[in-house]
Amino acid sequence: MTEQLENTKIVEHGIYDPLTETPTSYKREPEGAHPPMDFEAYKSTALRHPKQPLVYLPQAITEITGPQLSGLVKEGDNDLTIQHDGEPIGERITVSGRVFDTEGKPLRDTLVEIWQANAAGRYLHKWDRWPAPLDPNFSGAGRTVSDREGHYTFTTIKPGPYPWGNHHNAWRPAHIHFSLLGRAFAQRLVTQMYFPGDVFFPYDPIFNSVRDPEARERMISCFSIHETVPNWAAAYEFDIYLRGPGQTPFEEAF
Ligand SMILES: [Fe+2]
Repeated sequence: MTEQLENTKIVEHGIYDPLTETPTSYKREPEGAHPPMDFEAYKSTALRHPKQPLVYLPQAITEITGPQLSGLVKEGDNDLTIQHDGEPIGERITVSGRVFDTEGKPLRDTLVEIWQANAAGRYLHKWDRWPAPLDPNFSGAGRTVSDREGHYTFTTIKPGPYPWGNHHNAWRPAHIHFSLLGRAFAQRLVTQMYFPGDVFFPYDPIFNSVRDPEARERMISCFSIHETVPNWAAAYEFDIYLRGPGQTPFEEAF
């Protein structure tokens, strides 16, 4: 009986076969599933949020079948510590996890891209001018594609917190930006991953623009002693959930 149940579970949560099992539509997420476009404490949102109600476009074949990623990502693109002649300064870490849809099904072939500040909290970007050092051995961007079981992994440096101009003495908690393209453009997600126990959480309007405390928790990675590589890198785990199919699946009649 137990074995039967386990088999059933595997079938229900199996991996999408992109040829035979691409959903014909994806869920429209309810209001409140994501942070508001206009959030008073995050000042620049006042200038850039939509002023008119959103127009929902029908999901056509281009949204449901793309993107095609074969050959785009090279081996080593997921290691941000080997992009230059020397090694970057800072705390070497791995960041890994699995990509699922909201039905709990692992998503393979998901393009996972990250960008981040260096260990001193500075981006390699012309508008980042605060007086922290740039690291000549760290560019701060990487990408990978999830494997057959939805796994992804990066090797990088733990980013530092940094000040920003939102209000007096504003600091961002240490974070890594994530962009994911699932099996379809309709599953695109842009988010940020945080580190456990950050002292800046209570003061950061971007982190707190996610009003649901449980949803905020889901943006915080978990330290994993089991995944830590001895004498090499501490490990953080971060699972990510993208949109699931729009149609409610029917259970088979017994
Ligand atoms: Fe950032």
